[in-house]
Amino acid sequence: MPGGERKIEVLYSAEAIAGRIEALAQEIVAALGRDAHLVAVLKGSFVFAADLIRALHRAGMRPRIDFLTLASYGESERSSGEVRLASPLADNPAGRTVLLIDDILDSGRTLSYAKDLLLAQGASAVTTCVLLRKATKAPPLNPDFVGFECPARFVVGYGLDYAHFYRELPYIGYLTD
Ligand code: IMP
Ligand code: MG
Repeated sequence: MPGGERKIEVLYSAEAIAGRIEALAQEIVAALGRDAHLVAVLKGSFVFAADLIRALHRAGMRPRIDFLTLASYGESERSSGEVRLASPLADNPAGRTVLLIDDILDSGRTLSYAKDLLLAQGASAVTTCVLLRKATKAPPLNPDFVGFECPARFVVGYGLDYAHFYRELPYIGYLTD
């Protein structure tokens, strides 16, 4: 079958995601105030981060925004288990309160690698936000803000990929065939 054409069973619709993100933005601004330093973990979080930062703006936040690129999956549904920094931060996080944004927490290795990196670069505090938390046993860290608790299955869409396909879907779902 050509890439990107498998059947998808919808788990979270575009409307459900949008509604949850507005509420999440309110929670984040109530906890962090208006001046946070946001760092989105690419590539998976680019769609979520783009919607979240505009919801944060509506909730009153005026953040600085930076990105880093981490890679762990390669072209499979299983993590290689090794996280690699593919491109670094542009803006020095030293002395800042950082909100790390990622798409999904599975084993937790990616988020904990990113958090340690920011702390090593002098961030004064690092809080974490993921759109999805998979029901995985004992991750090394618990995110401070979670959009949805998600079943422990491979999901795609809304920035999440399978071999670089499906990131463009406006919803999140399972590959079914
Ligand atoms: P972790 O390091 O095992 O927590 O995995 C986190 C990273 O793997 C996320 O940032 C995602 O990019 C990717 N990932 C984990 N689970 C899925 C999934 O179900 N679909 C697509 N990507 C995933
Ligand atoms: Mg990712």
